[in-house]
Amino acid sequence: MHIWSAITESTQKPMDYSTFFLLFSSLFTFIYVLTISGRRNSRLPPGPYPFPIIGSLLKLSDKPHRSLASLSKRYGPLMSLKLGSRTTIVVSSPDIAKEFFHTHDISFSGRTIPDVAQIVDHDKYSLAWLPTGDQWRRLRRITREYLFSVQRLDDSEFLRQAKVQELLNHVDTCCRNKKAVNIGAVAFTTTLNILSKYMFSVDFGQYDNVSSQEFKEAVMALMELAGRPNLADFFPILKPFDPQGLVRRGNVYGKKLMTIIDRIIDRRLQSRSSSSINNDVLDSLLDAMHKDVSAFSRDEMRHLFYVLFIAGTDTTSSTLEWAMAELIRNPEKMAIARSEILKSMQNDNEIVQETHISQLPYLRAVIKETLRLHPPVPLLVPRKAIHDVEVHGFIVPKNAQILCNVWAMGRDPNIWSDTEMFMPERFLEVNIDYKGQDYEFIPFGVGRRICPGLNIAHRMLHVMLGSLIHKFDWKLEGNIRAQDMDMEEKFGLTLPRKVPLIAIPVKL
Ligand code: HEM
Repeated sequence: MHIWSAITESTQKPMDYSTFFLLFSSLFTFIYVLTISGRRNSRLPPGPYPFPIIGSLLKLSDKPHRSLASLSKRYGPLMSLKLGSRTTIVVSSPDIAKEFFHTHDISFSGRTIPDVAQIVDHDKYSLAWLPTGDQWRRLRRITREYLFSVQRLDDSEFLRQAKVQELLNHVDTCCRNKKAVNIGAVAFTTTLNILSKYMFSVDFGQYDNVSSQEFKEAVMALMELAGRPNLADFFPILKPFDPQGLVRRGNVYGKKLMTIIDRIIDRRLQSRSSSSINNDVLDSLLDAMHKDVSAFSRDEMRHLFYVLFIAGTDTTSSTLEWAMAELIRNPEKMAIARSEILKSMQNDNEIVQETHISQLPYLRAVIKETLRLHPPVPLLVPRKAIHDVEVHGFIVPKNAQILCNVWAMGRDPNIWSDTEMFMPERFLEVNIDYKGQDYEFIPFGVGRRICPGLNIAHRMLHVMLGSLIHKFDWKLEGNIRAQDMDMEEKFGLTLPRKVPLIAIPVKL
């Protein structure tokens, strides 16, 4: 499906076509002049020559990371193109990534803000969208200190372990009833519950589809809407019209999420005065606010929770789903990973825990290899140049959107051998990690805006995956042969599988 069909498919009559095209044609001359004169007069990096108004939008398919990878083969790892009226710079090699996110990290630390990020005024308070000024720094510090420091994560390990045990109980029941498991869906529920228990001492998800799953449904709907190509992002002049109705629909879910978060904060404020203590993140943040009201506002708090759920759930669960798909498709790799786990256990009753991760190099290599082939954020979260910057003799202009194609870098034959093969072994031979030091492998981003949830994601992914393969073998539903499995991806905000992985657990 092409980008234009993706756009029109998601257009649900908020603006009729004649008005839309009238608006377009009246803008034609104005934007044409800007587009052409802009390119002629600048020292932009090489790239396809833009059409008037739409620029190079037609060059993008429904999988922009793939289209940009092929364009970069022609124009090089530092490429520029016009997407609608927006100048976009695409980075596709480790050297250029280092230049951007190490040498000039501060200059490229802004964010271009998609229209849907403005739902419930999220962009004004969110760690993910604020410019890297004082407010952003304060929020990053709070996140580091109160949520993801090694100490906080070590102290809360028992809580994640309990949620993984619930996942295993669910899989065990499915196994006894010979019922197939939707791997991505159960991984999403587990991740959501790990985060909601840690932050609020409640579970937001259930494994059955019957119970009310308000929060889960709202998070999933927002992810879905945010992943659609939005005309207003390519032509900011259309923002007030919300031509596809994405903001209008997103508002419904955004408000729903905020209402749930607000309700939890309000109830906690009441119960705190009657002295019950939960010792969760919410309690710690309320304590911090109580000590110093200037440290943190209520709006910053609710938007922090909001962004952590949105940014943390789908990324983690889709990685887990891909890892399972690759292991089912490569049973010999599954056997190696399982035997490594069995060897590191003292007895049959022991379960995979976070303390085992350091003793499981092959399992770690499996997660890395999954992130190389299937990075959940294939173009990273778009950055923005905060002023003109000269890189390799070219000018990256102020306000240009910067995309870093980590998907292309993961399949670059100059960096990796047998690029399409799932070979965890490659990571046993080299000392490459995703913590932001190795520019050839940056699925969590890099520099000052590197993912703050990296450490919790690292723990969740290894324990969930290790637990699922330790006690169970997996067969595909409907007797599909593993080698015939559909491995196509669907582009959205993350890069999930096009066909969900449904597999039947078999007790070992
Ligand atoms: C496999 C799991 C995950 C992957 C691959 C991932 C990837 C990313 C990437 C690529 C970025 C942009 C980095 C950049 O601009 O350089 C990012 C930002 C972010 N991530 Fe993650 N992430 C994951 C899990 C999580 C989790 C579990 C959380 C929190 C619970 C989280 C919270 C965030 C936030 C708040 C930001 C915005 C940071 C900022 O702009 O300063 N992520 N993530």
